[in-house]
Amino acid sequence: MKVSHKLLFVLCLAVALGYIFNLSKKLHLSVWGQKPQIETEPTLIVLNVTQSTPEIRTEPTRIVLQKGASTPESEADIALTVGRIVGSEYDKQGFLQKLDVKLPVELEYKYGNLTEGVCKPGYAAAMMTAIYPKFMKPAPMFLDRNFKRLAKVSKFLPPFGFKTQERIIDIILTITKNYGLSPHLDSLPCKRCIIVGNGGILANKSMGSRIDAYDVVVRLNEAPVTGFSRDVGTKTTMRITYPEGAMQKPDRYETDSLFVFSAFKPLDFKWFKHMVFNEKLRGTEGFWKPVARHVPREPTEMRILNPYFIQEAAFQFIGLPLNNGLMGKGNIPTLGTVAITMALHNCDEVAVAGFGYDMTKPYLPLHYYEKVKMSAIKESWTHNISKEKEFLHKLVKAKVITDLTNGI
Ligand SMILES: *[C@@H]1O[C@H](CO)[C@@H](O)[C@H](O)[C@H]1NC(C)=O
Ligand SMILES: *[C@@H]1O[C@H](CO)[C@@H](O)[C@H](O)[C@H]1NC(C)=O
Ligand SMILES: *[C@@H]1O[C@H](CO)[C@@H](O)[C@H](O)[C@H]1NC(C)=O
Repeated sequence: MKVSHKLLFVLCLAVALGYIFNLSKKLHLSVWGQKPQIETEPTLIVLNVTQSTPEIRTEPTRIVLQKGASTPESEADIALTVGRIVGSEYDKQGFLQKLDVKLPVELEYKYGNLTEGVCKPGYAAAMMTAIYPKFMKPAPMFLDRNFKRLAKVSKFLPPFGFKTQERIIDIILTITKNYGLSPHLDSLPCKRCIIVGNGGILANKSMGSRIDAYDVVVRLNEAPVTGFSRDVGTKTTMRITYPEGAMQKPDRYETDSLFVFSAFKPLDFKWFKHMVFNEKLRGTEGFWKPVARHVPREPTEMRILNPYFIQEAAFQFIGLPLNNGLMGKGNIPTLGTVAITMALHNCDEVAVAGFGYDMTKPYLPLHYYEKVKMSAIKESWTHNISKEKEFLHKLVKAKVITDLTNGI
């Protein structure tokens, strides 16, 4: 009896140990498996080594360091580790270093056969993929009733996701009822979009009619149209806004545009629910400046911007600090860059106007609608303007987007 008990105990122990051993092996493997995502093309890497381009020569110390530190176990691991470093064809963010890319031949033919100036289907996404192979186009503009299935945003708190706000979003979406642009725009086989920034660079350039020619005109926060139409146009398809940026005077709102809400903190959702249900706003603690108390749009003309664009712009495209996925110093992209990110996923061609500051001309206005001079610009706590500009510059240089006012 006693002996068989002991035997059983030892057996159990052996099984348990075996299980743990196995598990640890699996864990170990999965950790390794997760690491390389970019380095899918070892053949390219080998070519690079033999070519010994200047970029590679600048980084020998890193190669040695990383090899030693990671102690790879197999030849495959070594290849991947080396690949991560030698793959300096791409920058830290995963963008091609040399941005003078060409489209795939079949697309060159396809676009070459279109009349000059006609909208090129899939152009922006194709160019983006050419300089940034990780780009995955599908990402809905606005949240719809299936929003909880959006895995990339469900685990992040605002502004990078909607975690903790699911209930209030459900309530809002039940009454807004619409989750697209408009039946007409949604059915277009090719959409050309323009994001109109608020920069003083737009002043006196008479861009209005060129801006109005786009299918989708995106404006930001309180940037006015009335009184500025010669320079900024008259058409507004949507106005993307956060509470502190929303126009305070109801008569300033266009009568035929979508009010698109972009959340930067959990409290913003509560504000938006009040606007959608036209409820009286009591107290405005928690906002960093006065907020609009009434938005004169029907619930069916209101949308919630997919927070994925904030997350992707911050962490993938610009490379701002992750900060455990929480809002922190210098890790919030500006609304303009968020809007451009949205357009890359949802428009066939993307243009911008009114972006960028010319710091050599501090006497020029900061915004096209205000007297405040550029010299008044302060170092921002939330944004990282210079890192953001690096990203936008890549898009312009590679012709992913067109900059009508040449400020980027
Ligand atoms: C138009 O397409 C055909 C093949 O589909 C191609 O041979 C031709 O070169 C294209 N034209 C231009 C201007 O790219
Ligand atoms: C634009 O033109 C108006 C009128 O000519 C002028 O007062 C203003 O200073 C100009 N603004 C800029 C930024 O050049
Ligand atoms: C912006 O990014 C640069 C480079 O990562 C960093 O040195 C700088 O401190 C950042 N600025 C802000 C405001 O976070």
